[in-house]
Amino acid sequence: MQSIIAADGVTKTYANGFQALKGVDLHIRPGEIFALLGPNGAGKTTLISIICGIVNATSGTVLADGHDISRDYRAARSTIGLVPQELSTDLWETVWSTVKFSRGLFGKAPNPAHLEKVLRSLSLWDKKDTKIMALSGGMKRRVMIAKALSHEPRILFLDEPTAGVDVELRRDMWEMVRGLRASGVTIILTTHYIEEAEEMADRIGVIRGGEIILVEDKAVLMRKLGKKRLSLQLQQPLTALPADLADNGVTLSEDGETLTYTFDAQGEDTGIAGLLRRLEAGGIDIKDMQTHQSSLEEIFVELVGGRA
Ligand SMILES: Nc1ncnc2c1ncn2[C@@H]1O[C@H](COP(=O)(O)OP(=O)(O)OP(=O)(O)O)[C@@H](O)[C@H]1O
Ligand SMILES: [Mg+2]
Repeated sequence: MQSIIAADGVTKTYANGFQALKGVDLHIRPGEIFALLGPNGAGKTTLISIICGIVNATSGTVLADGHDISRDYRAARSTIGLVPQELSTDLWETVWSTVKFSRGLFGKAPNPAHLEKVLRSLSLWDKKDTKIMALSGGMKRRVMIAKALSHEPRILFLDEPTAGVDVELRRDMWEMVRGLRASGVTIILTTHYIEEAEEMADRIGVIRGGEIILVEDKAVLMRKLGKKRLSLQLQQPLTALPADLADNGVTLSEDGETLTYTFDAQGEDTGIAGLLRRLEAGGIDIKDMQTHQSSLEEIFVELVGGRA
């Protein structure tokens, strides 16, 4: 399958000598939702800015829908919509003139019907004649999305689209992003809300210290790196953990009422059957039990090892 974005060997050293990207290879599949995760300063915005032609790479190549972003800048840029992390727009303009102007920047013929559709889908239609400065923070973010969609891009970058956005609007945005994907748009988003990636993404990339440390299907990632934990609530508390259980990696809670067993859900033998037999043989009765699957968040924290 051909990649809609192909970044190879991308490095970036800023003017002050800081190397923000250390040879990034990233290939995005047409029609996917790709979530790029990484701690503050990892290089997410730098990478997106390079792909969108806002920042020049120090070395490496990037193709957007087959167009080289430096040799064939205009064609590459017109396939891409960018919702930047920082709001950047003229606060004195109205919503309507802002999106109309954005479309014009890409040399596209006026298309009021398209702009109306975009504004309606973002619940901004009734604000179309309002000046940006008179909008709430969340509405301003939606205007940034409307701007990015004004020229009908095939690829949409969302850099922290839901930072500072209320829960309801976040849900609406997820819906909108899914709708866009259904219409054939490829979406790359960065987020610090890992539940957002867990909910939305087909694939996950993790960047740390200017290097991509992992790219994986979300489902595979969660299966491969996710651990499962079995908690057993006991009928009678134990005063001490029997040695044969301790040998098998079982732990006992402070209060003696809960046994916890961590296992690999992928493994041939999870060990649960053996554990239950041992409890039975030891006369330990169980009142209740739950299993817990680690979330993407737990996997991420383990991968990134706290703050970079
Ligand atoms: N114009 C610049 N000049 C020098 N260094 C820069 C510049 N822009 C970014 N950097 C540095 O490059 C590194 C990566 O920054 P970048 O904005 O790409 O991170 P990020 O992953 O988007 O972080 P965040 O999650 O905080 O948005 C940081 O150490 C940052 O200080
Ligand atoms: Mg950033």
